[in-house]
This record gives sequence, structure tokens and C-alpha cells, in this order.
Amino acid sequence: MDILGIDHVEFYVGDARQSAFFLCTAFGFHVVGHGGPEVFGSAQTGLDAQRTLLLSHGDSRVLLTSALNSAHPADGYVSRHGDGVAVIAFAVPDAAACYEQAVAAGARSVEPPRVGKNPQGTVTTAVVGGFGDVVHRFVQREGTAFWPGVIEPQEPAPHRESDLVRAIDHAAFCVPAGELEDTVDYYRRVFGFKLIFEEYVEVGSQGMYSQVVQSGSGTATFTIIQPDMSRDRGQIDDFLTWHGGPGVQHLALSTDDIVAAVRTFSDRGAGFAVTPGAYYDVLGDRIGATDLPVERLRPLGILVDRDHWGQMYQIFSKSMHIRRTYFWELIERHGARTFGTSNIPALYAAKERELADVRDSVELGAAGLR
Ligand code: FE2
Repeated sequence: MDILGIDHVEFYVGDARQSAFFLCTAFGFHVVGHGGPEVFGSAQTGLDAQRTLLLSHGDSRVLLTSALNSAHPADGYVSRHGDGVAVIAFAVPDAAACYEQAVAAGARSVEPPRVGKNPQGTVTTAVVGGFGDVVHRFVQREGTAFWPGVIEPQEPAPHRESDLVRAIDHAAFCVPAGELEDTVDYYRRVFGFKLIFEEYVEVGSQGMYSQVVQSGSGTATFTIIQPDMSRDRGQIDDFLTWHGGPGVQHLALSTDDIVAAVRTFSDRGAGFAVTPGAYYDVLGDRIGATDLPVERLRPLGILVDRDHWGQMYQIFSKSMHIRRTYFWELIERHGARTFGTSNIPALYAAKERELADVRDSVELGAAGLR
């Protein structure tokens, strides 16, 4: 299947305006469009039961959708999972052909092809099932309109600073034990993805299996993770419990200046995982010379690794989610195309330091000990 990249990601959220305020304030997104019953008239858009805001930062685009009544799927999604990723949209050259191909390969049909047109362009969309409650929208674009007849563009607020984020680099999914292989097989069979990386990740007494699948074009990448049930219960089990089943654990935003991005977003209220100084003390022996000076990475907790092609710099944000589930990642790639075998355990060890306190307090609270 010819997938050109991730076109956008849609979150279902309790209050789209509040979520937009946070993403704009802390992570530098801008509201650039909106949709809802009053925008074009519900008869045309079908948006009689939702309000949606379109945000962008660099080339990344995010839709935030809230249900206006219990009939809209966002209502049930939010009640099952809290706010979270509901749709990952693929840019494709022929949405109807991709839809037919996916359904023929066993994908669930969610919405058959439909066309939106205005003088600025024509957009064809179709939706099929993904994993858990996450679905995939095929988006075929001609012209400059984002989604004619559905999302009305609006000028971003003035004082727009230069973008610190470029695009959505990859997404990570958590699935229950025993579902990793089937999920990977599904993405290979239905969307033509290839398995490009696999890793057993050990974090203290916890373990997790991860496999990375990528579209043939190399422009859409998903890391799929399942817990190792033979080890101690850990953060993947926590995600599955608190999220209420499989779901998107994080989205990674690529940046050309991860140091500036972490500094800026931290100043505005985003939290990032903390890494102890000992990590940086041995970094030179492990990685050799780094493109970015270690003394700039150390105070911010940015991790560094390399693959066959080059270096990569990564950090997880703290989860701002009320259930401590979804979070963001920032990644700056210097030639690296995949993931490093050292960064993955280091990223999850940093996340563990954040989650351990919460897990302990939740368990103590549940046991009536707090
Ligand atoms: Fe990641």
C-alpha cells in the first residue's frame, strides 16, 4: 500500500478547547481550523454531534474532537479511556483504492470513501479499523484545503514564533500480552508495513517486548509494545489498566533543535522525564563523540543513541494525562533511521522513575493505606 506519511492525528477529548489551550501554551501548537454543527451546517458536514479544533505545529497536524452528545463515538471513547488518540490518518494518493485494499485484507470498514470539495481543493477520506479503539483514516488531497466542508480554516493568533517541531516521527502502541504478534501481522497484511526493529526491553525487574513496523515508504512508523507477564508488573501493565485496554502510549514529534524545544516547552509548563547524572558520566565511553555537547543534554535529561546510520536524541515528556497514560516524545535525528538499543531502556527507565511514585500512591490508596 502506498502510504505517503502521517497526515494528521485525531484525539478524542473531554473538552477540545481546554486540550487546545494546553497544547498551544505548553507545546507551541496553533489553532488553525475548527468544525462543528454551526460551522457549515450539520447537514453538510455530519458534525452535528461534535466540535473539533485543528492544531498545527511545523508540519504536524492534530485534531481535537469532543462529543456534544452520547451518540457520538468520542463520548464512549472518553468514558472508556479518558482523552486519547482515536485516529491516525495516512496521507495516500488514492483513498478509495487503499480502503478497498484494506477491507479486502481483513480490515473493519468504519467509514466508506467520501469527498469534500471547495475552491481550494478536494479531499477524499475513508476510515478502517486499526487496533483496539484506534482507527486509520486514508486522506487523499488535491489542493490546499485541509478538509473542505468539515474543517473551516482560521488564521492562527499573531505573534507566531518559529516552529520548534517539524512533524510526527512515530507513534507507540501498548497492547496486552499475547497480542503483539497479531497486531504486527495486521499492520503487515492490511497496510503493507514491514518489521524493521525488535527489542526486548528490561527496566529493573520489568520486561517488555517491542517491535517496530514501518510503511513501505518509511514515512509512517509504529512501535508496538506488550508486557512480559513472567516479570514484575510494570508501566505497560499500568497503561493497559489505566487506559482500559490497548491504545496509543505516545506520539513522537521530530525537531531540529531538541535542546531549545525542551527548554521552551519546560518553561511553559510541560514536564519532562529526569535522567540521573550517572547516565552522562559514561556516555562518552558508550557512544563516543556526540554531535550535541553532553553538557547541553545533561541538565535537560535528553538521551542520545545511534543506529547504523547516525545519532538520535530523545526525551519523553511527563504524562499530563489525568490517568497518567498518554505522553509526548521529542526526537532529533542526525541520520538515524530506526531506534537505538540503549535509548529504549533508558527512556523507559526515566518514565519508570516518574510512574513509580504514582503507582505506589495509587496502590496504597486502593488498599486504604494512604
Ligand atoms: Fe518513541
